[in-house]
Amino acid sequence: MFTISRRGFLAAGSVAAAGSIIPNVYPAWAATPLKLGLILPFSSVYAKLGEEIAQGLELALAEEGGTVAGRSVEVIKQDTEVNPKTAIQGANRLVKQEAVDFLVGPVSSAVAAAIRNVAHNGRTHLIVANAGHDGLSQGLCSPFIYRTSFSNWQVSAPMGTWMYKQGIRRVMLAASNYAGGTLMLKHFSESFQEAGGEIAGEVLPDLKEIQYAPFLEQIRNSGAEAVFCFFAGNAAVEFVKQYSQFGLHGNIPLYGCGFLTTSDVRPAQGEASEGIRTTLHYAETLDNPQNTAFRQAFQDRYGSAPSLYAVQGYDSGRAIVEALKTTDGNTEDKEALSRALDGIALDSPRGRMAFSRNHDPVQDIYVLEVQNGQNVVIDTAAKSLTTPTTDCTL
Ligand code: PHB
Repeated sequence: MFTISRRGFLAAGSVAAAGSIIPNVYPAWAATPLKLGLILPFSSVYAKLGEEIAQGLELALAEEGGTVAGRSVEVIKQDTEVNPKTAIQGANRLVKQEAVDFLVGPVSSAVAAAIRNVAHNGRTHLIVANAGHDGLSQGLCSPFIYRTSFSNWQVSAPMGTWMYKQGIRRVMLAASNYAGGTLMLKHFSESFQEAGGEIAGEVLPDLKEIQYAPFLEQIRNSGAEAVFCFFAGNAAVEFVKQYSQFGLHGNIPLYGCGFLTTSDVRPAQGEASEGIRTTLHYAETLDNPQNTAFRQAFQDRYGSAPSLYAVQGYDSGRAIVEALKTTDGNTEDKEALSRALDGIALDSPRGRMAFSRNHDPVQDIYVLEVQNGQNVVIDTAAKSLTTPTTDCTL
């Protein structure tokens, strides 16, 4: 799927009008729309996540009156279908044919790894609005790649230490079988084992699996005290529902990365999500003025409550807006654009967020528990957490 929406041509017109009074003062880019290429899943298991990221981004642009540093904005949407091959073609089209100024997305770690070179070799800034693939801020880091979401390590390693501290010693692992899931489990296992814990085993259902019974049977027979897992989007809905239907809810406590119980999936999970504990960089219940204002604005504009993914889309939009204000709208000088992004610190709905040397967000990681259908912050697992810079020479 491929769609274009155009907005804010009024401002582009006023720049052109000013140009007729003082000829040749404005550089060519000032009169051209800022082109944003959204490389996101608009179908398949992560479709809802992609839609919310796009909505969050569009809210940030709307708050600027639809123009950024005097330039009108053109948003081009490209569906990845959560498929690395499809995504490479789409990203190439956005960079080479559409000549977008920024790519924004993707959701899946496997897709992020696949399109990394399209952005890097095409010298096009990629604002990673979800995918946590650790390589992007380590060996595959790039002057053109910045992440407004999280690294997989940030949302999984802190839980290993935290669960051990709660007295849990033997854990079974479960995750969707692709780069996102396997990386989350690796980071959790390392920190849990380092603390002294033991891994009982792991199950890795296919990303698009809908029948979890054989995997739940293995969990039941594992003798583990608890489960740590990574599932998101439709996979999170199904896994949590079937965990409960299988009689495991309440018997083997379920822990995970926070995507398991974000507010986009909880209504469909219902009672089955109660008591689940996760680590994440956002909770809808965070009490800060930015979160209150953001949640109200999103509700007013779309008639629904935002989840974490909308926050990440919103902050991607905010980062682009702030960077362009610094460069006076110039997106041609790529080094200047990177320097502008380097200097950004956002008062995000999640709390304070800035970019580390390897372009990952520096942010707090919360421990959440679903209580009466809401994610409540029960602890802070890590303050101002920075992803290790191993192998990144930026
Ligand atoms: C990932 O693949 O990195 C990923 C996907 C969906 C999420 C979180 C992480 O909700």
